[in-house]
Amino acid sequence: MRCASRSDELVFFVNGRKVMERNVDPEGTLLTFLRKNLRLTGTKYACGRGGCGACTVMVSKHDPVSRKIRHFSVTACLVPICSLYGAAVTTVEGVGSIKTRLHPVQERIAKSHGTQCGFCTPGMVMSMYTLLRNHPQPSEEQLTEALGGNLCRCTGYRPILESGRTFCMESNSCQQKGTGKCCLDWGENDSSPLGKKNEICTKLFAKEEFQSLDPTQELIFPPELLRMAENPEKRTLTFYGERVTWISPGTLKDLLELKVKHPEAPLVVGNTSLGPAMKSQRQFHPVLLSPARISELSMVTKTSDGLTIGAGCSLAQTQDILAERIAELPEEKTQTYRALLKHLRSLAGQQIRNMASLGGHVISRHCCSDLNPVLAVSNATLNLISAEGTRQIPLNEHFLAGLASADLKPEEILESVHIPHSQKWEFVSAFRQAQCQQNALPHVNAGMRVLLKEGTDSIEDLSIAYGGVGAATISAHRSCQQLLGRRWNELMLDEACRLLLDEVSLPGSAPGGRVEFKRTLVVSFLFKFYLEVLQELKKLVKLFSVADSRHRSEVSDQFLSALEDFPVTIPQGVQTYQNVDPHQPLQDPVGRPIMHLSALKHATGEAMFCDDIPVVDKELFMALVTSSRAHAKIISIDVSKALELPEVVDVITAEDIPGTNGAEGDKLLAAEEVTCVGQIICAVVAETDVQAKRATEKIEITYKDLEPVIFTIKDAIKHNSFLCPEKKLEQGNVEEAFEKVDQTIEGEVHVGGQEHFYMETQRVLVIPKTEDKELDIYVSTQDPAHVQKTVSSTLNIPINRITCHVKRVGGGFGGKVGKPAVFGAIAAVGAIKTGHPIRLVLDREDDMLITGGRHPLFGKYKVGFTNNGRIKALDIECYINGGCTLDDSELVTEFLILKLENAYKIRNLRFRGRACMTNLPSNTAFRGFGFPQGALVTESCITAVAAKCGLPPEKIREKNMYKTVDKTIYKQAFNPETLIRCWNECLDKSSFHSRRMQVEEFNKKNYWKKKGIAIIPMKFSVGFAATSYHQAAALVHIYTDGSVLVTHGGNELGQGIHTKMLQVASRELKIPMSCIHISETSTATVPNTIATAASVGADVNGRAVQNACQILLKRLEPIIKKHPEGTWENWIEAAFEQRISLSATGYFRGYKAFMDWEKGVGDPFPYYVYGAACSEVEIDCLTGAHKKIRTDIIMDACCSLNPAIDIGQIEGSFIQGMGLYTTEELKYSPEGILYSRSPDEYKIPTITDVPEEFNVSLLPSSQTPLTIYSSKGLGESGMFLGSSVFFAIADAVATVRRERDIAEDFMVQSPATPERVRMACADRFTKMIPRDDPETFKPWSIPIA
Ligand SMILES: Cc1cc2nc3c(=O)[nH]c(=O)nc-3n(C[C@H](O)[C@H](O)[C@H](O)COP(=O)(O)OP(=O)(O)OC[C@H]3O[C@@H](n4cnc5c(N)ncnc54)[C@H](O)[C@@H]3O)c2cc1C
Ligand code: FES
Ligand code: FES
Repeated sequence: MRCASRSDELVFFVNGRKVMERNVDPEGTLLTFLRKNLRLTGTKYACGRGGCGACTVMVSKHDPVSRKIRHFSVTACLVPICSLYGAAVTTVEGVGSIKTRLHPVQERIAKSHGTQCGFCTPGMVMSMYTLLRNHPQPSEEQLTEALGGNLCRCTGYRPILESGRTFCMESNSCQQKGTGKCCLDWGENDSSPLGKKNEICTKLFAKEEFQSLDPTQELIFPPELLRMAENPEKRTLTFYGERVTWISPGTLKDLLELKVKHPEAPLVVGNTSLGPAMKSQRQFHPVLLSPARISELSMVTKTSDGLTIGAGCSLAQTQDILAERIAELPEEKTQTYRALLKHLRSLAGQQIRNMASLGGHVISRHCCSDLNPVLAVSNATLNLISAEGTRQIPLNEHFLAGLASADLKPEEILESVHIPHSQKWEFVSAFRQAQCQQNALPHVNAGMRVLLKEGTDSIEDLSIAYGGVGAATISAHRSCQQLLGRRWNELMLDEACRLLLDEVSLPGSAPGGRVEFKRTLVVSFLFKFYLEVLQELKKLVKLFSVADSRHRSEVSDQFLSALEDFPVTIPQGVQTYQNVDPHQPLQDPVGRPIMHLSALKHATGEAMFCDDIPVVDKELFMALVTSSRAHAKIISIDVSKALELPEVVDVITAEDIPGTNGAEGDKLLAAEEVTCVGQIICAVVAETDVQAKRATEKIEITYKDLEPVIFTIKDAIKHNSFLCPEKKLEQGNVEEAFEKVDQTIEGEVHVGGQEHFYMETQRVLVIPKTEDKELDIYVSTQDPAHVQKTVSSTLNIPINRITCHVKRVGGGFGGKVGKPAVFGAIAAVGAIKTGHPIRLVLDREDDMLITGGRHPLFGKYKVGFTNNGRIKALDIECYINGGCTLDDSELVTEFLILKLENAYKIRNLRFRGRACMTNLPSNTAFRGFGFPQGALVTESCITAVAAKCGLPPEKIREKNMYKTVDKTIYKQAFNPETLIRCWNECLDKSSFHSRRMQVEEFNKKNYWKKKGIAIIPMKFSVGFAATSYHQAAALVHIYTDGSVLVTHGGNELGQGIHTKMLQVASRELKIPMSCIHISETSTATVPNTIATAASVGADVNGRAVQNACQILLKRLEPIIKKHPEGTWENWIEAAFEQRISLSATGYFRGYKAFMDWEKGVGDPFPYYVYGAACSEVEIDCLTGAHKKIRTDIIMDACCSLNPAIDIGQIEGSFIQGMGLYTTEELKYSPEGILYSRSPDEYKIPTITDVPEEFNVSLLPSSQTPLTIYSSKGLGESGMFLGSSVFFAIADAVATVRRERDIAEDFMVQSPATPERVRMACADRFTKMIPRDDPETFKPWSIPIA
């Protein structure tokens, strides 16, 4: 029981208000406290592990050492509430509000179009706000650093950076030099029609309108806290919770005594190691000791031989301390500090570096620790202290391995870390390779140090340590010993590689997988170090004896590029679009870059998402229990232990479902059989979310495993396990054509799946009403009508009793089309059974485990072509991994086949597709719906043909592209004119041909770094291939004061549909947008809606809104004609007096789509979006890392309804596509368990992944008669253009392989992760590593594509 009477009072401030809590739970976090206790819901939950930054707030504390106030950003989800004693917290609500005053940060991120769904926005605002509190005029580097820990899944980051950049002291963007046009924007041959300045705009917001930053307006540090800090409480503070006691001593002596009393109790400092472990690995500590008030642990001492840093110093402070020391000391003394600093810059995000302590980092001994390998090789020592006294231990391999003899005693704590200076002839370096450059745990890292005998190149001392290749940091002590006395030359290198590979051995089944890659990195890093030292030696050459220098190894110029790491750069770029007709009335907003309607509310945290709805009376929480087996019979479900727990109200099983339990083979709650790990079996209902979650662990399910168990596409084909019949399209005579061609190639392509990673996880609140079985459902969905229908059939009550409300959705990308109905229905069963409102908020792990994502694809192709690259015949067979239920897999297969030809006219074609049934969670809709995977096969074919013909891929693309009015494979007529224009514009604006030459020049001069460039065309068909999906309705009310309420069938997912609908209504009614309002999407106002998907949301709903407005205007016409001088309000008043209905339903009976699969002909899509993208990259052949140098996108948006929103969609989807093709990698265990269930393991692009130069242009002067105001839907198409980065990487890899005489036609695998790139760049190091016979071990993970 909680013991409030004995607990001390927790005192801290939130947004200038004092919080005094006696009843605080030490297990609680700041995030829960803000959201639940203080109802400050601006701070969001998205991952709960410090990995996404959605929960960022600013903490201000008085620093006892510097006696200054320190402001720093933290992730509230990892901040233990008790750690805040004496701190001031600022949340997004404390920064500004639309009700009072907006802060410039909030205003600028909104007006720069830096928000789409808005779920990440409060976190972004807080990271930027904290930066400005510390640096009112930051540098661009500081800006990127500050935002490095914040993920955004919608925007692609460019506009967020753009908004931040407006505060920076310098800006390199040419746009800001006042010309309105950037020199980077145009190709060398600027003959583009975009050159007509009066038609083209490059400005999406008016910087001049921004209010200036006035630091004097910020909240001050509360004087009461200052007084507390100046006269610190020395008393030990204790906070008792139900299960955990938090003890915060005021003196070091008390802390040491407490450590004697509670030797098992951990010290919680940043909680960035303990917090996630307690959450995921279910670690439990009844007593937690907090050393936060012990100033001795934050001391820094500079001595003549080194630097002693207090264990309590944060990693951010450590960074500053090291930087300061580097500036003060001669270079030779600071080698270790530089190496540490290098890793500190890329270790986690800013928030984590602000929270995590040096001591916590060292003591955690994380196997991937970035600092421990460097500290270990540099002979760092640990200063320990206990009630008994002090002692030093070395931070060596024994300590890192956790040997008791070399470890802290239970009653000891780490006081500080001593890091010695380096000396002349000593060289220290640090290496790391992660999935992406920033904010990612390394796969492998290393610290290396060599001391050469003065004036020579012979090794006096050598230390090498690796992280990521074992359960702890590993020291290669034995190898190093054997190399002592050797000269620093090639012979030594060869011997060292052999020794290291022997000593740092990694079994084939090693946790984390990527075994051969890791082995290769072990020696590749050594090679980099070898070169670095040689280079340093060159500088010291004058000190060599003549004899020595003559025999010394040299680094050839070609090899120098191996030395440089890719720098973190700040993206630049220009967005161009066609301006509206100068004659368009000013008040008409269509075609103008209007800010997202909710942008300001996103930025202030006032925008309400599903879980921000205040607690409703008698509300209960639900948590789901899922299968731990991939294919098994359920023998029993024992819920008794869960029900015994206090606060647990009920457990919902399949038996509780009054109506239909899903469909055959796709049950809402499994009762008899499970077909994947992660399938929902039952749900616990409890008084709190924490209790509900804990109770799920008490439910005992017994299974009997069943056969077969299928995970991979290969196995599915073997077992003939498919979800639906094959889909096929054919034209010409493929077999005959193959006979006549000059050459044929057969190949395979594997494309991995993708997690939606919407920032707002799935959530629903079901409120049962007291009358007539009515239910109100607030749900985060793209398809409320589907939720409504599913709940109706599950509960067996008519649809008309159920109302679904969607205010806004924190990102969907297809992942919230089908799945929310499952969660809504299960929650509704709970609500009906218990009679209570039920709230279900999936945590990130469950969301990723349960919901499935993009279908992984395996494609086989055979292509026949002439020697000059004209493709005469193409046969592609695709298999997608559908998972265990049908879901959208049949539709995805159809779309995949329909879209596979992309931009190419090939006379003899055969496309076949099948959806495999496997024992994995069911895959579902995802932006692009099969096209991004399928078209990668087609483009890979083209690349293969190019390689075989010895021609550049762009030539083959051009040669085979549609050229004239023609018919697609399914005989739909289309005119490729716009496609060709996009292609030519892209070639021109990217200066493709001259840059291709520059790339070749670079590649000739550099052996270890290679550049690649690729240009990809795109023809993307928009819409659903079913007529019933092409309809929409809207309801428009005009009230007697003239204000207008619009409702339509589309859902606001961040794509700005509501903004566009208001633009339409404003144009039609000829009134300002400010008179019009959209409140929510509701099944009660617009029934039978279609999912907001397939890029057509704005098209179809826009037409419905237009229709309703036109009906209303027609009714008003006689009044307007009679009083043309009147105002809108007068006319409405008159209409009311004259009994004219001021409410109208608009309806759009859309496109008649048809597709006859038997005959292979149809008219499935209303129109195409065309585009082209050119990307250039540079790869590091030794690590597999890549840098995106530049991307140019041309997209045909026709007459964009809102260029800011449309460019946002293009950029956001491009970056999401880039993630699909480069870093986003799902890992499954051989038992079918998804490993990658958090941002730690699944890497979506971060702010530093944006191409250094990123230009987007909307193609001007194109028209489409079918859509509203001739606009086009751009929600999905940009996704595939991300493949230009993939093909640029492939181009660079192909160059490497050509140069090294390795077969060029290697298997195409997406994503092009560092692992795949490194292993494809085969060299002497990849040849050295031991290879395991796959039959001899069980791998850690299995490929499922
Ligand atoms: C999102 C995220 C990303 C990350 N990325 C990286 C990365 O890229 N590279 C990397 O190397 N690391 C990374 N980390 C790990 C991070 O560096 C460590 O979690 C952190 O340094 C631990 O410090 P802490 O103060 O939070 O420790 P805590 O979690 O507070 O404590 C950890 C352990 O240290 C002990 N401890 C703490 N201080 C003392 C002391 N003075 N004396 C004795 N014992 C003590 C505690 O008892 C506890 O057992 C990441 C962590 C997160 C959450
Ligand atoms: S970092 Fe806290 S929710 Fe993701
Ligand atoms: S706007 Fe950033 S996650 Fe949606």
